[in-house]
Amino acid sequence: VKGGYPTFMDKEIHDQPMAVADTLRGRLDRDGRLVLDEMRISEAVLRSVDKIVVVACGTAAYAGHVAKYAIEHWCRIPVEVELAHEFRYRDPVVSEKTLVVAISQSGETMDTIMAIRHAREQGAKVLAIVNTFGSTIARESDAVLYTHAGPEVAVASTKAFLAQVTACYLLGLYLSELRGNKYVDEVADYLEELGKLPEKIQHILDEQEEHVREVARSMAEATSVLFLGRHVGYPVAMEGALKLKELAYIHAEGFAAGELKHGPIALIEPGQPVFVVVPTPRRHTLHSKVVSNIQEVRARGARTLVIAEEGDEDVTAHADVVFRVPRTPTLMMPLVTVVPLQIFASELAAAKGLDVDQPRNLAKSVTVE
Ligand code: F6R
Repeated sequence: VKGGYPTFMDKEIHDQPMAVADTLRGRLDRDGRLVLDEMRISEAVLRSVDKIVVVACGTAAYAGHVAKYAIEHWCRIPVEVELAHEFRYRDPVVSEKTLVVAISQSGETMDTIMAIRHAREQGAKVLAIVNTFGSTIARESDAVLYTHAGPEVAVASTKAFLAQVTACYLLGLYLSELRGNKYVDEVADYLEELGKLPEKIQHILDEQEEHVREVARSMAEATSVLFLGRHVGYPVAMEGALKLKELAYIHAEGFAAGELKHGPIALIEPGQPVFVVVPTPRRHTLHSKVVSNIQEVRARGARTLVIAEEGDEDVTAHADVVFRVPRTPTLMMPLVTVVPLQIFASELAAAKGLDVDQPRNLAKSVTVE
């Protein structure tokens, strides 16, 4: 059942190229155009949407953060991302023109169920991005865009996250096309780039996995690990930290790198491990700012573990360790940059002798509020 891997999580990390490919499959027609047959919300309603609110919890909420960057950029529709449990209990502003997007692997997370019930009572349309066929969230939503990650057994979410992010890109490109495609030059180009992602993820597994595992084993004594990222690298940093907390029981925190100077840099002392998710060098200003952040923390003694694009040599002088990912369009970088962080958390937990698939105190689906 584990496909020869020591844990379900390892198997599911290796399932990721397929999870992305399967989530794309059937949604591109022969000419590479996007078709979302299952979109049961009318085009007229989707054209009139003036705000999107993503509701989700944990890893699924981080997929929502990535969606915000992509959908706002491609569609110019404001996107809010809200933890489902906070949304429900704070009198949120929703109307008939709000599209609520509920993201959930299990489709049974009670916090998210309560959020969509509330949204529908207010007249909002709910689109679910769900992995489990026929689940409660799927049944109670106006439309479902299924992720096709296959069953996820390990408590920590991996392939479901990549599939959720992929589905969010499809949604963004679909809405962009539907609403007149004013902001994306070539939806087809983006779709083509998305189609290359499974191969790129496989490339990371082939080329970087052993390196990441070796580094993780050398860090089994760590008591605190920080993660920095900007733009779509920010939710990746938070996801990297969450994986480490839940699997290795290590205090970990993800920051927006720009926030460092507003407080968190005080945490840096000699030996503090800091992961930095570096944007592509083609985004010049952000890239150089993040490279400066690496220098700043290293000058204070941090051990820097850097995730950077292949060929990005600006990071090498400031990094103690570099994990390479293939060159990928900026908005799609989470699909590659998160992979080393998942492997890292899994290996560190295993090195500490912990149960990777069943971390303490956690359940695979949280069916209570
Ligand atoms: C983290 C993790 C959780 C879930 C969250 C939402 O690895 O698995 O944070 O992402 O509980 O679960 P779903 O997606 O089933 O609604």
